[in-house]
Parts: sequence; structure tokens; C-alpha cells
Amino acid sequence: MNKQELQAAVDKRRTFAIISHPDAGKTTITEQLLLFGGVIREAGTVKAKKSGHFAKSDWMAIEQQRGISVTSSVMQFDYQGKRINILDTPGHEDFSEDTYRTLMAVDAAVMVIDSAKGIEAQTKKLFKVVKQRGIPIFTFMNKLDRDGREPLDLIAELEDLLGIEGYAMNWPMGMGKGLLGLYDRRAKQVELYRENEAGERFLPLDADGKLDPSEPISQESIYRDTLDDIALLNDAGNQFDLKKVMQGDQTPVFFGSALTNFGVETFLKNFVDMAPSPSEHVLEDGRKLSPVDPNFSGFVFKIQANMNPNHRDRIAFVRIGAGEFERGMDVTLTRTGKVMRLNNSTEFMANSRETVESAVAGDIVGLYDTGNFQIGDSIFAGKEPVEYAKLPQFTPELFMRVTAKNVMKQKSFHKGMQQLVQEGAIQLYRTYSTDDYILGAVGQLQFEVFKFRMQNEYNSEVVMTPIGSRIARWIDETQLDEKMSSSRNLLVKDLAGAPLFLFENQYAMRWFQDKYPDVRLTAKL
Ligand code: G4P
Repeated sequence: MNKQELQAAVDKRRTFAIISHPDAGKTTITEQLLLFGGVIREAGTVKAKKSGHFAKSDWMAIEQQRGISVTSSVMQFDYQGKRINILDTPGHEDFSEDTYRTLMAVDAAVMVIDSAKGIEAQTKKLFKVVKQRGIPIFTFMNKLDRDGREPLDLIAELEDLLGIEGYAMNWPMGMGKGLLGLYDRRAKQVELYRENEAGERFLPLDADGKLDPSEPISQESIYRDTLDDIALLNDAGNQFDLKKVMQGDQTPVFFGSALTNFGVETFLKNFVDMAPSPSEHVLEDGRKLSPVDPNFSGFVFKIQANMNPNHRDRIAFVRIGAGEFERGMDVTLTRTGKVMRLNNSTEFMANSRETVESAVAGDIVGLYDTGNFQIGDSIFAGKEPVEYAKLPQFTPELFMRVTAKNVMKQKSFHKGMQQLVQEGAIQLYRTYSTDDYILGAVGQLQFEVFKFRMQNEYNSEVVMTPIGSRIARWIDETQLDEKMSSSRNLLVKDLAGAPLFLFENQYAMRWFQDKYPDVRLTAKL
């Protein structure tokens, strides 16, 4: 590709992830998006994978057992001349650090909220990570076909609980059984839930933002209530501000119902239009790298292990940051300086794994890995080394004490542990006084994967004793006194030797803070 072609290709990319609390409708909306993209022909396909249609797959055995769909890790399709990459962020019990790290590889996020429930715990956690990146966040208020909370409350909650301004792009005209349609403030039209007698789905609004009075719906009280709401929004609501949207300070809000496929296409059209294409990446040394830099480079944000149990191979997911990826190209692994030929690559599609011929910034390529890569690694072609900014560390919430089952096999235990920790599969801590091993994770699945891999890859059986959920807070070493530690606030050190407390609960943390008001406690992301 020449420079212009590269620029045009990058401009087409829209790479994003959907964040939500389990059951808010992420799978359902993803399916609708794939339908619009022509990737699947009927709804229910993604779900089928979730529940275990996995015969042909050769992915990680543990994931098969659990029926987690990893082929849908990255879904790519074309829509309205744009190339869409949706990166999956697993929820439920498969929530892990990978979920967070995936958010480091996207250019925008879509937040799906159940309009009956509002903002829930997992959405809040994921939002925090996205917000920290300063990328645009689009909101889809789902399940409008059911009675939910007042739309004005839902918008206010964005500000109150997440600290982000909401701007309603469209507004529900009723909900549940009384759902008539959406009042589209941007396109200046009403999108009907059910076609009118003339078979129309979209009705234009006049200059005053009103429907033609001969339209039967304009006689409904729900319509008049909507006009009141719109007047209120126009007068007292937030003003639309694209700049704020782009830096993640304002979220455009779309209402709809994924299940009945209402409002989803409107959302997609607007999203494709407004969401950014890949932009500059800040490197570790502070330099900025343009996505159309002629030299290929990218970073590993996720490693999926043992996809094929016969080969013990792994796949490193690389987000391309610049240049063009081509099969068979030589790249250097920045951390080690090792040069590798990338001739065994796969690109991830929702319905198949196809060998990638070329890909540009914004795209994700999966590279077969025999143990070269670590999470966060940079690779580059060309002469000048490229090192992407380090991925942030996330505060684990679940902890386990871990030991080798067979004391005679300490060597393989230590080797496996060291490698898995280095790879970023799990966090490791040591207790201050006794040097015991404590594992930390954000989701239960990380422990299970750890145990499985220790056994299968390092032939080391481990015994894990749950410590349960804890609040991890780092403390400055100069303020530390070992007497501060108790069973309710276990003192450990991280890999770098930095001390932290694992508090049993909020109460234990507050008690500690009251007792030691001068001690500053800090959390990672
Ligand atoms: P998730 O991936 O975020 O966990 O949610 P998922 O799409 O699986 O949806 C969770 C449940 O909510 C599903 O019902 C789904 O059908 C329902 N749902 C999603 N969007 C809408 C919507 O717009 N309106 C309504 N009324 N329901 C919606 P389920 O009964 O748990 O699953 P299933 O047995 O129907 O597949």
C-alpha cells in the first residue's frame, strides 16, 4: 500500500469493545450488529457458541469445557464502507485481566445498559478503565420494549454514578407495552416501533421538531409527553459537544431494544459516523506514533494459551498501531531484540479463522506463539525500535494461597509460576513475614486457567486455598510498620517488592484508616 492507500484504509477502521453488566444484552446486540454486517444470517448464532456448539474448534480445552466462545474474541465486518472490529470483553465468571487489557486495544467503547436496572457493578468497573484512557464512550440504553426506569433518571445516573455527561441522541416515546418509537434529535425524525398504516417507519419532524398533525401518533399523550421531555432536554440538558465526546467526557446516548432489533441500526449508523478511526499512539518514551507510519508495529494485549492441546501453542493477540501487516514479514520483538518471521498468522473473524493477508492500524492479528511473547510486548518492522506505552496494572480483587502439591517438584512449580506471572496471566504476591505465595486475580477464571496450565504445561499440581475477595491497597514503604498487619489486613509485597495490604472488607479498611490517618493507601486501576 502506498501512503494514501494506507491512510484510506486506516480511516475506514472502527475498533471498539462493548462493556456491560451480565444480562444487559451485550450478546444480543452483538448479534444484531453481526447481522447488519452480514457476518451471520440469523440471530442465535453467538448464543449457540456460548452454550457449547464447539465440535470443530481446537481452542483451549478448559474454555471448551466451560463453553466460552473464544472464536468471537475479535469480530470483523464491513458496514457502510467502514471496517468494524468488535473486541469481545468477556463478562460473567470468565471476567479476567484480559477483559481489562482488551480495553487498551480499542479506540472506542460501547456501554450497554439495561434500562430497567440502570448502571450496574461490572459496567462501573469497566467504565473506569475506559474512562482512564480518554476514549469516546457511546451508550445504548437497552430493553426499551420492557417497562424500565425514567429516561431522565437514566441520563442523570450517568453523571451521578460515572461522572460522565450524557447527551440523548434520541428519546423514547413511551416504553414497554406503550412503546411508540424514538424521537431522533439528530436526524430530526421519529422512528416508529411499528410501521404506520402507510407502511412508513420514519416520519420527518418539522422545523419546530414536531410531527405532521395529521399523523395519528401526534394525537397520543405519549407523543405530547415526549415533546415536553425534549423541550426540557433542549433547555436544561447538556449541549452536544463532539470534542467532549472524543475525550470521553460526554457520552452520546441511544435508546432501543436489542431483542426486537429496534434502534440498533440507528445506533450503528451514528456510531460508525462519529466513532474515531485509529489515531496516534503514545510510546513508552513519550513520542507519538502515527497510525500511517510506514513501518508496521503493534503490541500484544492478550495471550490465549493452549488453543490446540496437541501443540501446546498459544496465540498472541496483537493490536496494530501503525503501518501495514503482511504475511511473512520480519519483525523485531522490542523487549528481547529477537527477529521473527511472521508467516503463521491468523486473523479473527466471527465465523471463521481466516489467514490474514494484510491488516492495518486498528486491526487485530493473532500470532502463533511458542513462548516468545508476553502481554504488553511490542513488535516492529523497520530499523527504529518501537516500544508502546506499558499496559496499566489492575487491582486484583480475588486472592488464593498457592503451594505445590508435591514438595519434590518445587522446581517445575517455580518455573511455571514465574513464567505465567511474567506473561501476565495472574498476579503474584508474597506474604511479608512468611514469604508464602499469594495469587491475585480480577476473576475466578484466572485461577482455574492458572491451575490448568501449571498441570498441563509445567507438570506441576498446585493446591490453592481461597482467601476470598479482598481490597488491595498499596502503601509507601517509608510509612510501613509490620505491626500494622493483621489477619483482617494481610500485608504482602508485589513482584517489585512494593508493600500492600489486603483488606478483608471496606470496614477493615476504614478501621485501618481511622487508626493510621497519616498513611496513604493507593489502588491501581
Ligand atoms: P449479556 O450478553 O449482556 O449477558 O446479555 P444477553 O444478550 O445474553 O441478554 C440477556 C437476556 O436479556 C436474554 O434473555 C436476552 O434475550 C434478554 N434481552 C437482551 N436484549 C433485550 C431487549 O432489548 N429486550 C428484552 N426484553 N430482553 C432482552 P434470557 O432469557 O436470559 O436469555 P435467552 O434464554 O432468551 O437467550
